Amino acid sequence: MSFQSLLLNDADGTRTITINRPDQLNALNRDTIAELDKALIEAEADRSVRVIILTGSGQKAFVAGADIKEFAHFSVEEGRALSAEGHQKLFDHVEKLNKPTIAAVNGFALGGGLELAMSCHFRVASDNARMGLPEVSLGVIPGYGGTQRLARLVGRGKALEMIFTAGMIKADEALQWGLVNHVVPQADLLAKSNELAAAIIKNSPTALAAAIRAVNAAYEPGVNGMQREIEEFGKCFGTADFKEGTTAFMEKRKANFKGV
Ligand code: COA
Repeated sequence: MSFQSLLLNDADGTRTITINRPDQLNALNRDTIAELDKALIEAEADRSVRVIILTGSGQKAFVAGADIKEFAHFSVEEGRALSAEGHQKLFDHVEKLNKPTIAAVNGFALGGGLELAMSCHFRVASDNARMGLPEVSLGVIPGYGGTQRLARLVGRGKALEMIFTAGMIKADEALQWGLVNHVVPQADLLAKSNELAAAIIKNSPTALAAAIRAVNAAYEPGVNGMQREIEEFGKCFGTADFKEGTTAFMEKRKANFKGV
């Protein structure tokens, strides 16, 4: 399928999805969110895709936020619906994807852009990246999970400082705070992300999916994360990947996982 605001590239089991509205700094409008939803459903269903990298087009921005021009005249009901729909179609969807998803943050990641990066399983940033949740400067609050995910990643105090000041932090500070895992020169961003993807792809897809479900359980209300881990651990023993992984270890060869 082809998309208006997305570019897709497949290489060695990694699908790179590039948000491609560079003249608007890749701001997320409703159509782009709907396209991302479709692209993620496709990537999840495609067995040849083992890791997803999300990035932005151009050298300036990952995503400069939700599209302010689109929502500037919304009513209370429309605002609520925008947030609810975004959570469901994109941000929760990314967090719960059954394949590891890396945000390659290539510039500004502001508002919805940082929220998208935070929904990914982890983040790699270029050294020119700037991150922030500037919503209160517009008279609104983060509405795509930012109030929850930022506090989980950097702690409540730092999250509230970022939200209150509407300020931006640089990539090296984001690294110190644990918001991103790696910072590299911009020219190396995709190479570094692909190198991490290649390390992941060696491993069992069924186990990776189980690990995502188990880690996510910590943040699901009413769910006991340890219990979910026990269940997911047990289920692994019924997979062909587990047989292959343990047999390959004993036969002193590399495992050839089929993802079943
Ligand atoms: N929504 C809609 N359009 C956006 C946008 C957003 N979140 N962020 C940037 N753009 C558009 C600008 O309006 C401009 O479009 P135009 O040329 O049609 O006027 C274009 O992208 C380039 O942005 P510009 O502001 O000229 O670039 P800059 O280098 O001067 O500043 C930023 C870059 C990121 C600091 C600035 O664009 C900005 O503050 N953006 C909004 C960030 C934000 O508040 N995000 C949270 C939204 S909830």
